[in-house]
Amino acid sequence: MKYLVIGSGGREHALAWRLLADGSADEVFVAPGNGGIEERFRVNIAIDDFAGIERFCRDSAIDIVVVGPEAPLVAGLIDFLTGKKIPAFGPTAAAARLEGSKLFAKFIMEKYGVPTAGHRDFSSKADLLAHIETIADYPIVIKLDGLAAGKGVGIPESKAEAIDFIERNVKDGAKVFVEDFLAGEEASVLGISDGETVLPFIAAQDHKRAYDGDRGPNTGGMGAYAPAPVARDAVLERVRREVLVPVVQGMKAEGCPFKGILYAGVIIDGDSIKVLEFNVRFGDPEAQVILPLLNGRLGDFLQASIAGSLHECELSFKRMSAITVVMASGGYPDDYRKGIPITGLDAVSEDLIVFHAGTRMENGACVTSGGRVLNVTALGESFQAARDTVYGEIGKIRFEGAHFRKDIGHRAMGR
Ligand code: GLY
Repeated sequence: MKYLVIGSGGREHALAWRLLADGSADEVFVAPGNGGIEERFRVNIAIDDFAGIERFCRDSAIDIVVVGPEAPLVAGLIDFLTGKKIPAFGPTAAAARLEGSKLFAKFIMEKYGVPTAGHRDFSSKADLLAHIETIADYPIVIKLDGLAAGKGVGIPESKAEAIDFIERNVKDGAKVFVEDFLAGEEASVLGISDGETVLPFIAAQDHKRAYDGDRGPNTGGMGAYAPAPVARDAVLERVRREVLVPVVQGMKAEGCPFKGILYAGVIIDGDSIKVLEFNVRFGDPEAQVILPLLNGRLGDFLQASIAGSLHECELSFKRMSAITVVMASGGYPDDYRKGIPITGLDAVSEDLIVFHAGTRMENGACVTSGGRVLNVTALGESFQAARDTVYGEIGKIRFEGAHFRKDIGHRAMGR
């Protein structure tokens, strides 16, 4: 089988690695890929160049396209490829609204009884500002509808911060809503669906803040581990039953069945489980810890999602732990330099898997090309063993300005 993976991050490197490692694929091409993908499999086509993707699929006899990031899903790449009779894994544009429109996600959750935070909608900035004047308890959550590359959510701690966020981010007429703040521990519970059946993966936990102790600015994710103890067994089963199943059934009832990866970001607080947000694709960096633990052939599950035969499948996982630590460019998540040489990639133990994210090859050398540069990943019989492997080796990889969190998995350690 020949696969084409769309995207250029650590998630896409992990998808390609997994499809090859478990025998799902004979060849995996990645468009546009990164420095971790062998040159002959890197395809220089942008993720929004649908016609270019179609042409490459035909010229190279691609059997299945796997779409990594949300933007092409929301823009309708699956509809486009399916319309051209090219099998593609992921949700249609109508189903991808679960991530593309936070208000649509709220509508589905409220209609189909999925637990989530209470909210109030606005499309007038003046009304929003007037509402802020009436709020006494902080923090609150302000969310802009639509994809915003992680910048559409503010969690102001005071009225002054709320007004500042609104003045900087909200245009008059924009759809925006104010949501209750949910306290508790966050987990990422992903499921694979064929529009009818949904099978959950083991839960993972991401670390969104840039610095140790969950301090500093928000990032795309600085590291993850799985399984996350906060959402094992009975809790995972509740998320399946109370969140994933009703959403998949609701999407079918709405006439936009959900095929692909349904990612529920949930907040767990004692017996309470509430949904913070949905994504419609593998998490990054969650994929980097979930995929290595999956038993069987990933390609079989992707094909079953496309074919509508997931009811014949069972997901199971190695009884091990996985951790990934993101090495980021100096300055990230703010401005950072690119083109900095990376050394030591060959020096680390073979027990590690180093997924590339923001890297490219330049004159035969690997250099930085993005904010999140590498995902240094290890598996272990226990979480502690996996963590010791990563932190024992990560210092061998170097590039000027590199920073990484030293406390990935601190909540698991605390249990
Ligand atoms: N790790 C968060 C995300 O993939 O959106």
